[in-house]
Amino acid sequence: MVMSYLFSLILVMDIIVSGWSFGVDGLSMNYYIMNCPFAEGIIKNTVNMALQSDPTLAAGLVRMHFHDCFVEGCDGSVLIDSTKGNTAEKDSPANLSLRGYEIIDKAKEEIEKQCPGVVSCADIVAMAARDAVFFAGGPVYDIPKGRKDGRRSKIEDTMKLPSPTLNSSELIRMFGQRGFTAQEMVALSGAHTLGVARCSSFKHRLSNFDTTNNVDPTLDTQFAKTLSKTCSRGDNAEQTFDSTRNSFDNDYYYALQRKNGVLFSDQTLFASGITRGIVYGYAMNQAMFFLDFQQAMVKMSMLDVKEGSKGEVRDNCRQIN
Ligand code: HEM
Ligand SMILES: *[C@@H]1O[C@H](CO)[C@@H](O)[C@H](O)[C@H]1NC(C)=O
Ligand SMILES: *[C@@H]1O[C@H](CO)[C@@H](O)[C@H](O)[C@H]1NC(C)=O
Repeated sequence: MVMSYLFSLILVMDIIVSGWSFGVDGLSMNYYIMNCPFAEGIIKNTVNMALQSDPTLAAGLVRMHFHDCFVEGCDGSVLIDSTKGNTAEKDSPANLSLRGYEIIDKAKEEIEKQCPGVVSCADIVAMAARDAVFFAGGPVYDIPKGRKDGRRSKIEDTMKLPSPTLNSSELIRMFGQRGFTAQEMVALSGAHTLGVARCSSFKHRLSNFDTTNNVDPTLDTQFAKTLSKTCSRGDNAEQTFDSTRNSFDNDYYYALQRKNGVLFSDQTLFASGITRGIVYGYAMNQAMFFLDFQQAMVKMSMLDVKEGSKGEVRDNCRQIN
């Protein structure tokens, strides 16, 4: 009797101490339901308003989330500004034109008015990317919340981002290290249905490509001319990934089938026998792409997430508290 009482006491204590198992610190779909019920709505409104005036920023928000998650986990580290003593991720050449920071600042400002110190910047980035996908015509999906903001953002960590010169097997290995299958990697690459790449990201394909080819042989000859023309306007000249830069669809996979992939890392998905079948599948079936994409995005949004005391809720998304 005494023993069993003691046992249940220990059990209760255990549950109180490790509130984790009840989602106090862990991620959950309704994490803010008590403390900031309007957070999702505020973010959605802010994103929609910003994208109505500049639809090209949808790409910026989606890419920002990817860069956040692949460096130090989804912890808002991508938002930190450099200081005198620290050069942040943002200032890496790999930040390559990340855009949309003002939207995150705006959402955070609006949320702080309602419930100060509750909603993390990492969660705002994840929700904003999700809302941007939907705004652009992509799938709608729910993501768990409760990520905490990290306290580290260092330029050297951006080495963990994939380079556009990687081939299919290297991409599979790199995403595999983060727990993604080849299929998930190809689905996530479909984010390149949005936005642009600058000449500096693909010019290596256009001349002195390798010892046997001047131009990348996986590139369509006519499209190579299009890319060269873009590059004639300089390193920062922009090339859209597919025919519709602001709409989220499976056009990107059509482009790959026609050898019209902009980055080497895009075209390799079709050039390589390992991933070609997946590209065919997504080009044929947009619903399948949408389903795989949303599942892979939810998975990416939970990459190395910091829970509980492993992080903080930043007051200002650009600086550590
Ligand atoms: C598979 C490996 C990937 C590589 C090598 C890669 C590389 C790149 C590069 C080089 C650019 C162009 C940057 C520039 O020239 O300014 C770019 C743009 C972009 N990337 Fe990726 N990326 C990859 C995966 C992803 C993933 C997983 C996502 C999101 C889920 C993503 C979202 C985007 C978006 C939306 C843009 C357009 C940005 C804009 O127009 O502002 N990428 N990526
Ligand atoms: C990206 O990094 C470059 C330096 O490599 C810097 O000049 C630029 O301001 C950074 N862009 C953003 C949006 O932070
Ligand atoms: C990809 O690149 C690596 C390293 O350069 C090379 O060993 C491998 O054979 C390449 N794979 C394919 C499919 O081209």
